[in-house]
Amino acid sequence: MIEEFIETRAYTEKLCEPLKTEDFVIQPVEFVSPTKWHLAHTTWFFEVFILTKFDPDYQLYHKDFPFLFNSYYETKGDRLMRTHRGNLSRPTVDEVYQYRSFVTSALEKFLQKNSDQNEVLNLVEIGIHHEKQHQELLLMDIKYCFGHNPLFPAYGDFKHEKKEADTSGWISIDEGIYEIGHQGNAFCYDNETQAHQVFLQNFKISKQLITNGEYLEFIENDGYKDPLLWHAEAWDWIQGEQITKPLYWHKMNEEWKEFSLSGLQKLDLELPLSHISYYEASAFAQWKGLRLPTEFEWEIAQDRFEWGKRWEWTESAYTPYPNYKKAAGALGEYNAKFMVNQKVLRGCSTLTPAKHTRKTYRNFFHPDMRWQQSGIRLAN
Ligand SMILES: [Fe+2]
Repeated sequence: MIEEFIETRAYTEKLCEPLKTEDFVIQPVEFVSPTKWHLAHTTWFFEVFILTKFDPDYQLYHKDFPFLFNSYYETKGDRLMRTHRGNLSRPTVDEVYQYRSFVTSALEKFLQKNSDQNEVLNLVEIGIHHEKQHQELLLMDIKYCFGHNPLFPAYGDFKHEKKEADTSGWISIDEGIYEIGHQGNAFCYDNETQAHQVFLQNFKISKQLITNGEYLEFIENDGYKDPLLWHAEAWDWIQGEQITKPLYWHKMNEEWKEFSLSGLQKLDLELPLSHISYYEASAFAQWKGLRLPTEFEWEIAQDRFEWGKRWEWTESAYTPYPNYKKAAGALGEYNAKFMVNQKVLRGCSTLTPAKHTRKTYRNFFHPDMRWQQSGIRLAN
């Protein structure tokens, strides 16, 4: 556990190595948090959920940091408004790194002496997974900042994007009663429980994700102009925000380009589509005469196709499973309070860190959000 903790803390900092000081601070829109804030908030999590609670000798590192770096935990006191995260030129980036290393070594020392306390170990495990979630958020947010900078700076060669394997076609699943949700003792979030049974009708699910080329056909066939393909609020959204393409696509001199962490590049028609909202995923499925899978269909079929390149929008609303019990205390705020007006995404993306994927993992976003690396797999 200590090793995994140290590794996770170090990996967050490794992700920041390509950045310059100015990159750590900006917040171009409300849902994007500054890198500096992610570095401090993940530290605050270990400090308030473990050190201040269990280590009688621990002194809070800075009396104002809980106000600055609490995200949304009402039970952990007042906090800076989310829209103000980018207003903090102080503490400086260096000071935030000092805060990180102070808390990392305090927790390491505490764990060496208290390696038998199950309650502490469970919280450390949650803290590690929390930080891994923020590692992906950090990359999503850096991509948003750089992708909305007219200079389109490159973060660096993050991971080589690969096209889908040549296994086109459909997987057929027979109707029946299936087991859904997390089982066993390995880590999961509370929202993946309780395991339960669902009845599924016969269905087919595609072996491949939708490619950029397939989505370009939708654009060229005026998919964004046909109100019959869109939900009412989706139509209002594309009109209001003037949405006509995926988040990082740009048409320049009659050529389509896509911004990635490696910079602005010619759109690769064979790569899986990314950065689309649920609204767009649903309209595309309508245009194809098909639909998105439910999260249950996805979970039952997932061992028969390759996944892991894109978070896959499902048709399922993010709601509690039967007999769901949210975690006690402040950690009950981690997942449960977001179970309204959101759609579930399954799988993971190329931005997701290692050891942070599971077939039962339930990611969730509002249907208009698309700065996560989301894509489409169709069902029938
Ligand atoms: Fe968080």
